[in-house]
Amino acid sequence: MTLKNKSIEEKNHPTLDIVGSYGVELTEKKIVLCIAGSVAAYKAIELARLLMRHGADVTCVTSNAVTKLVQPDYFKWATGNKVITKLTGDLEHIRLADYNKSDLIIVYPATANTLGKLANGIDDTPISTILTVGFGSKIPILMCPAMHASMYDNAAVKKNINFLKIKLNF
Ligand SMILES: Cc1cc2nc3c(=O)[nH]c(=O)nc-3n(C[C@H](O)[C@H](O)[C@H](O)COP(=O)(O)O)c2cc1C
Repeated sequence: MTLKNKSIEEKNHPTLDIVGSYGVELTEKKIVLCIAGSVAAYKAIELARLLMRHGADVTCVTSNAVTKLVQPDYFKWATGNKVITKLTGDLEHIRLADYNKSDLIIVYPATANTLGKLANGIDDTPISTILTVGFGSKIPILMCPAMHASMYDNAAVKKNINFLKIKLNF
């Protein structure tokens, strides 16, 4: 969400004390951090805080699968921002990922499932809808795959990763 859409509570959240404590490179940068259902999700909390420490405003989007591993309140604590766990009439996907609404979308961790959805134009979860909008509005997307080697070795997963490598330049 843009700052003007934030509640008073979000603007005054105590966790914002850390913003800029390591540097100002990301000041005024809006980063959408999508967290899919991998055990690596616990590391997204530290990533969110690191981006904030360099000045960024971070909004987290969670998949249903990850909320069974990590409670969304943890991401709220980490960032001070409302966590997007579902899409509503507030049009969170447009507010976050339409033209110039954010500077970067990170998917960390990216599951085989979520990678596959983006690579094949499937749009049936909050993360995949935000990626569909962001891909169309040309917001840079950084996918950070996390999975067992056997999943990487799946030919369909490899095909999806190779497609996204070309389209997203990662
Ligand atoms: C404990 C646990 C760990 C998982 N770790 C991974 C993982 O590292 N990578 C992956 O692609 N899927 C992993 N999965 C499977 C995904 O959660 C599952 O495919 C899910 O449908 C992904 O949905 P999402 O992409 O919407 O988050 C894991 C599942 C569980 C229960």
